Amino acid sequence: LWTAAHIIEDQIARVREQVGKDHVLLGLSGGVDSSVVAALLHRAIGDQLTCVFVDTGLLRWQEGDQVMATMAEHMGVKVIRVNAAERYFKALEGVADPEAKRKIIGRLFVEIFDEESAKVTAVGNGQVKWLAQGTIYPDVIESAGSKTGKAHVIKSHHNVGGLPDHMKLKLVEPLRELFKDEVRRIGVELGLPRDMVYRHPFPGPGLGVRILGEVKPEYAELLARADAIFIEELRKADLYDQVSQAFAVFLPVKSVGVVGDARAYEWVIALRAVETIDFMTAHWAELPYSFLGNVSNRIINEIRGVSRVVYDISGKPPATIEWE
Ligand code: XMP
Repeated sequence: LWTAAHIIEDQIARVREQVGKDHVLLGLSGGVDSSVVAALLHRAIGDQLTCVFVDTGLLRWQEGDQVMATMAEHMGVKVIRVNAAERYFKALEGVADPEAKRKIIGRLFVEIFDEESAKVTAVGNGQVKWLAQGTIYPDVIESAGSKTGKAHVIKSHHNVGGLPDHMKLKLVEPLRELFKDEVRRIGVELGLPRDMVYRHPFPGPGLGVRILGEVKPEYAELLARADAIFIEELRKADLYDQVSQAFAVFLPVKSVGVVGDARAYEWVIALRAVETIDFMTAHWAELPYSFLGNVSNRIINEIRGVSRVVYDISGKPPATIEWE
């Protein structure tokens, strides 16, 4: 009988045997898979695990602090937080093409991860020999199939597929045989908060692909705040778990609004919420009008610089879930 507890025990034994006394490095993204791997490895090998969490400045509102609070403070996992927002914004300056942005974001992640792992080695953890990854069974199938298209690009960022050769790390992938729902159950069993384990997916490039065109720090802040209001209201209305993914998008378009007696030209926020089984096709979620109206009011009233909120009613196909 394979309960979550059994899978955990089994994987702990396997990991211990695999890595022995070696040190293991893990790129923590804040997502479900890498968080579950961190919790699992922490239980298996304790301080032989070092996680690197890169705060790109393109994460959800206060996500960096939340990851540290949960993983480092609550779970006791050794996490190095790298505050790299400035570096990301600098690298993205003037870049509007979505695939170019994805490449820059992915490349910077690898660079930073490489730098941090060199430091881990330098401070006397011995040679880091293992790289842990949150690869799950669907990823294995995916990369065995088509290598073209977004599906492959998707995980290549998060799963650090493109690490430099000189790192020569062997892989530990304790979730490789598991489906997402099993990963979630293990996460809960390991003591991760339910909210984190059942969170909607978040793309590797983060807000970088939800700010259309050029990414600027002020856009990122505004978007993260609008997104947080949307998510908070979804949770309050018990709608969060009924949609597969929901988020806000920043449109670099100025639309007229009246502020006091004057006309002001301010930004537009789009809200997207979808229902889907496999993320290959999706239906826009038929959220109640009153709910949408409430979210719109809050965003416009609470966030200076936004005067208009729209709701995306496009199905996939042809519209992808993300706007870029
Ligand atoms: P699309 O926009 O292709 O999204 O309909 C399908 C699912 O994939 C996520 N997505 C990404 N995830 N890196 C990721 O890690 C990416 O570049 C990326 N693009 C899309 C998207 O959030 C949705 O869940």
